[in-house]
Amino acid sequence: MQIQLDNLSMHYSDQGNGQVLLLIHGFPLNRRLWQPQISSLSDVARVIAPDLRGHGDTPPKPFQNQRLYPMNLLAEDCICLLDALQIFQPVVVAGLSMGGYVAFALYRNYPQRVARLILVSTRATADTPEGKANREKAAEVALQEGAPAIAQSMLPRMLAPQTYTNRPDLVETVMGIMKVTSVEGTVGALLGMKDRPDSTTALSEISVPTLIIHGAEDQIIPLDEVQTMHARIPDAILRIIPDAGHLVNLEQPKLFNQAVRDFLPNIGRTN
Ligand code: MLT
Repeated sequence: MQIQLDNLSMHYSDQGNGQVLLLIHGFPLNRRLWQPQISSLSDVARVIAPDLRGHGDTPPKPFQNQRLYPMNLLAEDCICLLDALQIFQPVVVAGLSMGGYVAFALYRNYPQRVARLILVSTRATADTPEGKANREKAAEVALQEGAPAIAQSMLPRMLAPQTYTNRPDLVETVMGIMKVTSVEGTVGALLGMKDRPDSTTALSEISVPTLIIHGAEDQIIPLDEVQTMHARIPDAILRIIPDAGHLVNLEQPKLFNQAVRDFLPNIGRTN
């Protein structure tokens, strides 16, 4: 589906009825990341999954003539989508990795629009100085060699080592999702992530029910960092999924979907 927002022609999936579950993808991905959730969870929720600007089918669009896409801007795009769809009730917001950074921005700026939070394979801390320098270098590579060069270099770390070795079909699917990201989207997201604020101090103020889902073998965001985040969010639930890496929702869709089902308000429990 496609909808014209004020300044952006946004593509998105919208399936099911009832409680809205907004799924925000990570980098350098798009809404196809969420296919196992869109098809399975749309019997119990209205599952909305946008392609963020410059990702998937949503075209790139510079912001104030700058290259970077601040996380606040990507959150604002999600709010504009909900407004355009006339959804003003609080929604369940799930974000994976960069999508989690966007979810933090959305909750910071629009807490009244958030009923529950699901933080997947993500972290609350800002980039380290070394991490920031790596983002700059990666943006330069994307400009010089094209966005697929970034996708290719990230691919082995996106999945658990055994998934990468034993499931070539899934590896190909992930590469297929990543390689369509535009250069502008790649650079915009890299520089936006580089400048994102630290959300650690805000964790203790999160007052909506929060579920954290993390792959036990995530190679991008280590488990101990997530355990620290979990300890700081009041009453948060932490689900560690075995045999899964960064893209836990694709690697273990049944376990992932069940964790979400158990967490969604007032819904059935079958898968
Ligand atoms: C993602 O999966 O969204 C990115 O790996 C996040 C990051 O690089 O910090």
